[in-house]
Order: sequence, then C-alpha cells, then structure tokens
Amino acid sequence: MNRLQGKVAVISGAASGIGRQCALRFAEQGATVVIADRDAANGEVVSSEINAAGNGRAVFQQLDVTVAEQWTALAERCVGDFGSFDVLVNGAGLFLSGIEHTPESETLDAWHSIQAVNIEGLMLGCKTAIAAMRESGGSIINISSVAGLKASIFATAYGLSKGAVRQYTKSVAAHCARKGYGVRCNSIHPGIINTPMGRDAMSTASGDLDVGMERYRKAIPLRAIGEPDDIAWAALYLASDESRYVTGLEMVVDGGVATL
Ligand SMILES: NC(=O)c1ccc[n+]([C@@H]2O[C@H](COP(=O)([O-])OP(=O)(O)OC[C@H]3O[C@@H](n4cnc5c(N)ncnc54)[C@H](O)[C@@H]3O)[C@@H](O)[C@H]2O)c1
Repeated sequence: MNRLQGKVAVISGAASGIGRQCALRFAEQGATVVIADRDAANGEVVSSEINAAGNGRAVFQQLDVTVAEQWTALAERCVGDFGSFDVLVNGAGLFLSGIEHTPESETLDAWHSIQAVNIEGLMLGCKTAIAAMRESGGSIINISSVAGLKASIFATAYGLSKGAVRQYTKSVAAHCARKGYGVRCNSIHPGIINTPMGRDAMSTASGDLDVGMERYRKAIPLRAIGEPDDIAWAALYLASDESRYVTGLEMVVDGGVATL
C-alpha cells in the first residue's frame, strides 16, 4: 500500500478500460488521481467510484487529448488545486473497429483520426507533462501496444501510431535524462486486453465476440486474454519510485505474443 503516496497522477482515457483500472489502482496506492477523458459521463462515474470507496481521491477533468489548450488547462488545475503533476499515463487511444484497416483498404480519413489521438494527442500530453515536471521530476507512461512491435496487417494505421509511440517514448526519455529533469518516460505494450476496445477488436476479427475471444486465447502463449489489471500493475510500478532507475523501457505485457 501507499506506493504512490503524495503523488498527483493524471490518466488520459481513464473513463474506460485500462485507464480506468490504472486510476483505481493508483488511488488505492495513495495518489490523487485526475481522470482525464473526453467522455464526461463515464469519467465522472470512475471519479465517484474512487471517492465513494474512501480509497483515495479523484477528480474528473474534461480532456480531448488532441486539443493543446485543454492540456494547458489540465496542468494548471493540477498544480493549482493539488500542488504538483507527478505522473502522466497517456492512455487515451483510438482503434476504429468495424472498418477494415489493411494496407489496401485503409482510408486517409481513418488514418488521420487514429494518428491524431494516438500519437499527436500523446505528444501534447508528454510536452505538457515535461513542462510541469521538469523542476521536481516525474514519470510519464505511454500506452503503446504489441501492435507497435510487429506487423499489424489488419490495423495498419493503429500499428503505425503505436510504433511511433514506442519511438517517441525513447526520445522523451533521452531528452529529459540529458537535461537532468528527473523525468522518466517508458512505454507499455499490452497484448489483447479485455476492455471495450479489446472486445471490439476481437469481435471484428471473427464477427462474433465469443468465437473471437477463443481464437485469440488459443493463439496466446500463456493461453489467456489479458485483463486491465495486468496493465495497471505494470503502470503502477513505472509510476512509483520503485522504477526510479528505469527510463526508455518498452515493457511488454502480452502473454508472450511478441515472443512468436
Ligand atoms: N484493449 C486492448 O486490447 C489494447 C491493446 C493494446 C493497447 N491498447 C491501448 O490501451 C489504451 C487504452 O485502451 P482500452 O482498451 O482501455 O480502450 P477503451 O476504448 O476502453 O478506452 C479508451 C478511452 O480513451 C478515451 N479517448 C478516446 N479518444 C480520446 C480523446 N481524443 N481524448 C480523450 N480521451 C479519449 C475514450 O473515451 C475511452 O475512455 C489505448 O491507448 C489502446 O490503444 C489496448
């Protein structure tokens, strides 16, 4: 317990799935959590859930990660209301299921929408966090994907965006280290995870969720679909001072998929 005591953690995409689970775990470990998402209804639910449990403190902040001014407002609120901005999880992401995304079928509109959220939004998050953290240090955690490490035949734009997150993470890590900011930056590469996005991807792949889940499960070396907590525990380590000597890491949490 209390692995994040005294820290203020911003989590984008925290209204759902992996971001939500990071918010629950971080609050439980003593962080003040800022639930940042464009989905206000579900974001408020997650915030209330944390505060009602009496197991930490959370607030909701409306954020479209693609809008620079909203990042500025978020950082100002963090520092103004809570005194610091110590951890950022860039978790907001777009997959655009239901459309075929092979190199032959990908549309330019889908391509631009995916890059706007998954890499441009993440870049704005990193830039905002560095400015807020450079005096007293901090930890930035970028949620990439195993799709950023391997060919993504059916998710070409998504795979490209996640490969860009992997590469950009290392640039942020090296820049902050060279400047002596005490800001670390690491990426997490989930395999298939049981969230709304993961379930959409599995049902799109086969036309039926149960069939899709079973097909994925059999193809994973550890023979299990990942749960949001599998990623939240990894993010908790990277957010905490336990990982103080870790930067530029690509932490793969995928049941062994990337080994194949
Ligand atoms: N689920 C998986 O199988 C899987 C695998 C690898 C990587 N990931 C990555 O993990 C992250 C979280 O995914 P998830 O599975 O929890 O998905 P999810 O769909 O459950 O949650 C994504 C969240 O991002 C928010 N979001 C989307 N666009 C936004 C924007 N412009 N501004 C602010 N918020 C926005 C959504 O409102 C939602 O709350 C994503 O980056 C995703 O690409 C997921």
